[in-house]
This record gives sequence, C-alpha cells and structure tokens, in this order.
Amino acid sequence: MTIINVTIAGGSGDLGGKLVQAFLADDSYQVNVLSRVNSDSKGLDQLRKQGVSVITVDYNQFDELVKALQGTDILICTLHYAIVDELQPVLFRAAKAAGVRRVVPSDFSSENEAFQRLVCPDPAATERNIIEAQLEYTRYFCGAFYCYLTTSHVGVNLENRSVTVVGKGDKPFSLAHQEDLARFVAASLKDPRSRNARLGFESCTITFNELIAAIEKHSGIKLNVTRLPSDPSLDFSGEDIMREDVINNLFSYAADLEIAGPHKITNGICPSVHLTTLDTYLADFFSKKA
Ligand SMILES: NC(=O)c1ccc[n+]([C@@H]2O[C@H](COP(=O)([O-])OP(=O)(O)OC[C@H]3O[C@@H](n4cnc5c(N)ncnc54)[C@H](OP(=O)(O)O)[C@@H]3O)[C@@H](O)[C@H]2O)c1
Repeated sequence: MTIINVTIAGGSGDLGGKLVQAFLADDSYQVNVLSRVNSDSKGLDQLRKQGVSVITVDYNQFDELVKALQGTDILICTLHYAIVDELQPVLFRAAKAAGVRRVVPSDFSSENEAFQRLVCPDPAATERNIIEAQLEYTRYFCGAFYCYLTTSHVGVNLENRSVTVVGKGDKPFSLAHQEDLARFVAASLKDPRSRNARLGFESCTITFNELIAAIEKHSGIKLNVTRLPSDPSLDFSGEDIMREDVINNLFSYAADLEIAGPHKITNGICPSVHLTTLDTYLADFFSKKA
C-alpha cells in the first residue's frame, strides 16, 4: 500500500485537530503538523503523544518552511481565518519548492463569494495562489459546523432564550459536523476524482424553522423568535464579523439568501463516510451539558 504523507498547517486547531484524528484512523496516511514557533495551542502535546510529527516553524522563514515540507505529498491548511491571507501564499510557494504534489486550502466554509468576502477581503486570492504555485488542489466547501449551532454565532442565543430568523425560515441550507467532514476529507483525498476538484460536503440539510424546533426539543428551552424581513440587497462587506450583533444575524441572512454553503453536494464520491444526524449531535451535546 502506498502511504500518503500529509502535512496539516494548523493541525493543532479546531478543525485541524479533527482532520489529524481522521488521518490517524486511516492507515493510508502518515501525518505531520506544522505549528508556529511559540504556539500556545493546547492540543500539541497530545498530538505528539499520538505519534504525530509536530514541526515547529517560523512562517516568515521561507527556507525553514521548504525544509519542513520536504517529503510531504499533500499540504492541508486549516489555519485560523484571520491569518490565511498572509500565510497561505507563502505556504503554497514553499510547497512548490519542496516538491509537494497537492494543496488543500483553508476553505471549509461557504462557496459563495459574497459570503466569503465577509471573512476575507480577497476571496479570489486562494484561486490565484494555487494557479501561481502550479500545484494540484482539492478545495472543500460546506455550511456552518454543528458546534456553532448552540452558540450565538448562528443567531440562537440559549442564554437569552432567543433566536433571530430572517425571512420565513423555510429555505434549506447545509450544515456539517467537523468529524464527518474530516472523515470525508481523508476518504476523498484517496479518490482520483478529488484531483483539481471543488468538493461540497454536508452532514445534513435543514431549514431555520426545523433547526429551532430541534434545538427546542433537545434543550427543553422555548426560544423567543424575532423575525427580520428578507433583504437580498444586504451587504455585510466591511462589517466586523466578530461583533456579536453582526455575526448573530449574518448566518440567518445567509441561510435566507441561500449563500451559506457549497454550490453542489459531492458526498456521493465517498458514500461510506458516516454522517452524524443533527438529532444525534444535539442529543449528545445537551446530555453532556445537563
Ligand atoms: N464552516 C464553519 O462553520 C467554520 C467555522 C470555523 C472555521 N471554519 C474554517 O475551518 C478552518 C480552520 O478554522 P479553525 O477554527 O479550526 O482554526 P483555529 O482553530 O482558530 O486555528 C487553527 C490553527 O491556526 C494556527 N494559528 C492561529 N493563529 C495564528 C496566527 N496568528 N499565526 C499563525 N497560525 C495561527 C494555530 O496553530 P499553531 O498554534 O499550532 O500554529 C491554530 O491551532 C478555516 O478554513 C475556517 O474558515 C469553518
């Protein structure tokens, strides 16, 4: 069996950590993680204990990056969103110089450009960086992660027992469980159809009204629903998405405008990947919380 050597830049992070576990569970892969000098990420020691090669790098030292990437077949970026624009182009150039075959950029979010512009000023940069580096790529797109549904990030505020819905709340949108997505990435990177492809993943499709009903059922909390009118002309660009009042409504608007997920779902290329239902996730979440 040919072993695929993957290096995950940001493998100590939230999604990166799930990807590391999915690759470790699949004996087709050898896993390395790139981590910043002086990183205070908590998961690093655990990764080392699991036998992951954690390579500490100064992302500003190109030669150091090239050396760290030598022997890597696929470079996967799961960097914190605020640092992607700065680090990803350098990483791709270093990957090219090190003989890396394929890159997976730090996407893992909506495929819609209007939505992407909210988190990065230049959504076309990733495409340009891939072309400039002349490397194979696989890009993964998905909707919001399950773990954000019970935070105020999608407009549901359990503490205040409130939720904001834009429009009728009846438009279907995609959601993804990070562990499912990670297994899909590990499975699909072995499939030839992932070469130079944009893949869309979802764990489930749901409407906002169904989401509210599911959260109420599992939390036992009756939510006060504020309904805002649908507004296709809405432009969040330039807004600080870390501001709670912005992010609270942002996802709800995106769901209503049908810009919150991938253009096309391609789960079908890896049908054996287990999908966690939202019901299972929420039942588990609220039982641990009780
Ligand atoms: N669909 C969704 O709902 C959703 C939600 C959140 C994120 N995402 C996507 O998932 C991907 C990963 O996001 P995440 O939330 O998992 O990331 P994260 O945990 O916030 O950060 C990942 C890693 O980036 C490194 N990092 C953090 N700050 C850095 C800095 N200033 N300079 C260099 N490295 C830094 C850290 O690794 P070291 O300390 O080891 O260097 C960290 O563990 C992104 O592409 C994001 O767009 C999607």
